[in-house]
Amino acid sequence: EKGGYDYFMLKEIAEQPKAVADTLLGRIDAEGSLTLDEVRIPAAALREATKVVIVACGTAFHAGLIAKYAIEHWTRIPCEVELASEFRYRDPILDQRTLVVAISQSGETMDTLMALRHAREQGARVLAICNTNGSTIPRESDAVLYTHAGPEVAVASTKAFLTQLVACYLVALYLGQVRGTKWGDEVRAVIRDLARIAEDVERVLETMEPVRELARSLAGHDTVLFLGRHVGYPVALEGALKLKELAYMHAEGFAAGELKHGPIALIEEGLPVVVVVPSPRGRSVLHGKIVSNIQEIRARGARTIVIAEEGDEAVVPYADHLIRVPATPTLLQPLVSTVPLQVFACELATARGNEVDQPRNLAKSVTVE
Ligand code: F6R
Repeated sequence: EKGGYDYFMLKEIAEQPKAVADTLLGRIDAEGSLTLDEVRIPAAALREATKVVIVACGTAFHAGLIAKYAIEHWTRIPCEVELASEFRYRDPILDQRTLVVAISQSGETMDTLMALRHAREQGARVLAICNTNGSTIPRESDAVLYTHAGPEVAVASTKAFLTQLVACYLVALYLGQVRGTKWGDEVRAVIRDLARIAEDVERVLETMEPVRELARSLAGHDTVLFLGRHVGYPVALEGALKLKELAYMHAEGFAAGELKHGPIALIEEGLPVVVVVPSPRGRSVLHGKIVSNIQEIRARGARTIVIAEEGDEAVVPYADHLIRVPATPTLLQPLVSTVPLQVFACELATARGNEVDQPRNLAKSVTVE
């Protein structure tokens, strides 16, 4: 049943191009228009929405953090993202014009379910992004956009995360379409690139051997840090979460701009630091900033593991290890830059003798608080 792989996690990582393609299937036509028939929230309600609030836990929360960048940039609707466990015990300000998006692979996560009930009680409409047909969260939502990752067995989420990202991009683009947002060539190009992004994910998977080797060489370390900016920041958080849960290592993700506000004190000789570098095209300011962050940490002894787009030569002098990903529009980069971090965590866990598919103390579906 593991299809020739040693672990479900490896199988599920390998299935990502298909999971992504399946989630896109039939949802973007040749002209770049979106059809999301399942989103049975009346177009008028979507047009009148004044705010989007995303609630989720763990890896799904990271997908939500990335969605915020896309939703606000493409549609100009204010978007908040909150851990469901915090949201449900606060007194959040919601009304009928708030669109709440609940993201959950299993559809059974207690905190996410309670957050959506809390939101509906206050009149907000809830759209679920879910991978499990007929589970509780979609049943209790106003509408659901299913991800088509197929069953995810390994406790650590991989293919579900990539499909959650795809679903978030689709929701963002759909909101823009329904609201008649005037899009320039940039968004039209993004839609074209999204429609064929599965090929890029496939290309990343073909080049993972050096990442595995690198991971094995780090098995004796205690700490790994992850840095990113913009959508690379949630990717850094996700890389750190994967390493914690699988390798049982101290791993932390930071926004690179926060380095000087504390975390840089952690840098010492030989400390592995993974840096997610945004595209040098597009938002070049971001790129320049992160190149200086890499220089700063390297000058203090960090062993830099740099994830950068093909053709990005500026990072080469400062990268102790360079992991290449295909060029994508900035906002879509998490679909390719997360993959090496999944492979990295899986390989480190194996090298440390851990049970990859069933990490200690964790359950696949968290139906209690
Ligand atoms: C991490 C992981 C968890 C889940 C979280 C939410 O790899 O799998 O952090 O993402 O428990 O689960 P769902 O998406 O089922 O609500």
